[in-house]
Amino acid sequence: MAMQTHAGDPGAFRGFDLTRVPSPCFVVDEARLEQNLQVLADIQARSGATVLCALKAFSMWSLAPLVSRYLSGVCASGLWEARLGREHYGGIIETFAAGYKSDEMGEIIALSDHIVFNTPAAKDRFLPMITAAGKEVHVGLRFNPGVAMGEDAKYDPAAPGSRLGTPLEQIDDAALAGVDGLHMHTLCEQGLEPLLAIWDHIAPRIRELAPQLKWINFGGGHHITRNDYDREGLIAFLQRVTAETGLHCYLEPGEAVALDCGILVGEVLDIVENDGPNAILDISATCHMPDVIEAPYRPALLGEAGDCHVRLGGPSCLAGDVIGRYAFGKTPEIGARVAFLDQAHYSMVKTTTFNGVRLPSLAIWNSTTDALRLVRQFDYTDFKGRLS
Ligand SMILES: Cc1ncc(COP(=O)(O)O)c(C=O)c1O
Repeated sequence: MAMQTHAGDPGAFRGFDLTRVPSPCFVVDEARLEQNLQVLADIQARSGATVLCALKAFSMWSLAPLVSRYLSGVCASGLWEARLGREHYGGIIETFAAGYKSDEMGEIIALSDHIVFNTPAAKDRFLPMITAAGKEVHVGLRFNPGVAMGEDAKYDPAAPGSRLGTPLEQIDDAALAGVDGLHMHTLCEQGLEPLLAIWDHIAPRIRELAPQLKWINFGGGHHITRNDYDREGLIAFLQRVTAETGLHCYLEPGEAVALDCGILVGEVLDIVENDGPNAILDISATCHMPDVIEAPYRPALLGEAGDCHVRLGGPSCLAGDVIGRYAFGKTPEIGARVAFLDQAHYSMVKTTTFNGVRLPSLAIWNSTTDALRLVRQFDYTDFKGRLS
């Protein structure tokens, strides 16, 4: 069954003329992004916690100056995101990867303020390199709280048998040697309740370990910028953790930074009648919105209304390159523009050029001033350059 997205509010995109950009194109509303950043900065200021932007979700670096104005740094998934963070964002660069390559660790140490390891063994292997670098780096260890809270095991790092994080019961004094803080990440698009439930489960052990530590990082997956998120509850929770344990709290949301900030604009290339109309778009699920197939989920369509049901799919050869079935007033014309909502996160960062399908351009719109700038267009060289 397809997952339901919790976002999909068109916001100011309701009034955006889709023909103002080339197709396909991601359009990000920087005014909406700033609103999200203000919410996160307020959590940071009032809770005393530190909030980092998870680049894996949203790393449109032309907006890095805006992101960095509000948040304290970034969370990187490895060397290249750490490098992007250092080049464009600044602030704290925290790197976590489930596995590190020895030949990348020197650069990761040079770039990062925090390095989080998935296992005590990896920490022990690389600790001498960190010490030898003579640079102040906070060493973290990711633990797995073992409380599965997700709707779907694929998106739940605490699902049974997970490779992500060392089970909390294995974290003993030897595991913590040389460690400054603990890290967990097990939520996905969730409210405050699952975080509180996990905390209830882990708090007795964390309180025992806390005297040896400086901080705890609660990862991402917190849908803080969604209207129904209990933000006051989160602030109270973070303050309580610090009061009870003496640990400084970190959060590293990705999706919440860019929630409902962007659309993916495409156009209709052809119509195939087969048990109803199928519109072929220049947007591909597999190349441009792979989570539609992976999750799977059905992205919301801007202005969807009517009694004419049309299957929308991509131009690629993949039979399953289908985005979903959508309602229109009538079968759309060739050249008609469409836009999928809430595409700023986890789409732009995941695109591929399978079948040589063109990558969407990147545009920044300001819904307050109506200023629009096209920041990137891709061509044949981007496809060719990844092959040889
Ligand atoms: C370690 C870690 N931190 C942060 C995030 C960001 O999560 P989200 O975008 O759901 O807030 C993820 C997402 O997979 C993650 O794996």
